[in-house]
Amino acid sequence: RRVAILISGTGSNMEALLASMDPAADPEHPATPVLVLSNDPRAAGLAKAAARGVPALAVDHKPYRGDRAAFEAALDAALEEAGAELICLAGFMRILTPAFVARWQGRMLNIHPSLLPRHKGLRTHERALEAGDAEHGCTVHEVTAELDDGPILGQARTPILPGDTPDLLAARVRRLEHRLYPLVLRRFAAGDRTPVMLQDD
Ligand code: GRF
Repeated sequence: RRVAILISGTGSNMEALLASMDPAADPEHPATPVLVLSNDPRAAGLAKAAARGVPALAVDHKPYRGDRAAFEAALDAALEEAGAELICLAGFMRILTPAFVARWQGRMLNIHPSLLPRHKGLRTHERALEAGDAEHGCTVHEVTAELDDGPILGQARTPILPGDTPDLLAARVRRLEHRLYPLVLRRFAAGDRTPVMLQDD
């Protein structure tokens, strides 16, 4: 399976995914990265992908302001050119239209920093603390037309500890994301959609 990774920023999940697909690390991996795409030309992740020898491209959304369909047509053109069969959203901060999602339905994954269905949207670490949740974590799911919705493919949990702050929680969850996303992608690319559950250790 040929995988494209869509980012907007740091790209730490992208790096974890790329490392996991490196033939030196996992010669039998069923997926291979063919493109890293960012809507922000300044995304730090682009240089990291290029350093790993993966084609990295920016499709700046700004010139398309007001015309999401045209922006997504440009995304689709790049994805097609690369021969992408699967998409991993990894900190991609643009909302995708139902038409784009429908085209990629069943072939597009996302990682979200909460235990969905709790805390869809932004500021998830703050909100988990404010809500007094006993645990927190991250979710990899198939992307459907609803934001942060769609079949759950994996979750990783960590207890919320006394003294936790949004930053401490974010760092813990980020480490879990880097374990969970590669694990789910490997299974998904091999046709396995049964959810996988991880616990912080
Ligand atoms: C991650 O927390 C991810 O769950 C969220 O955006 C963040 C991306 O971070 N959707 P990075 O660019 O992978 O470092």
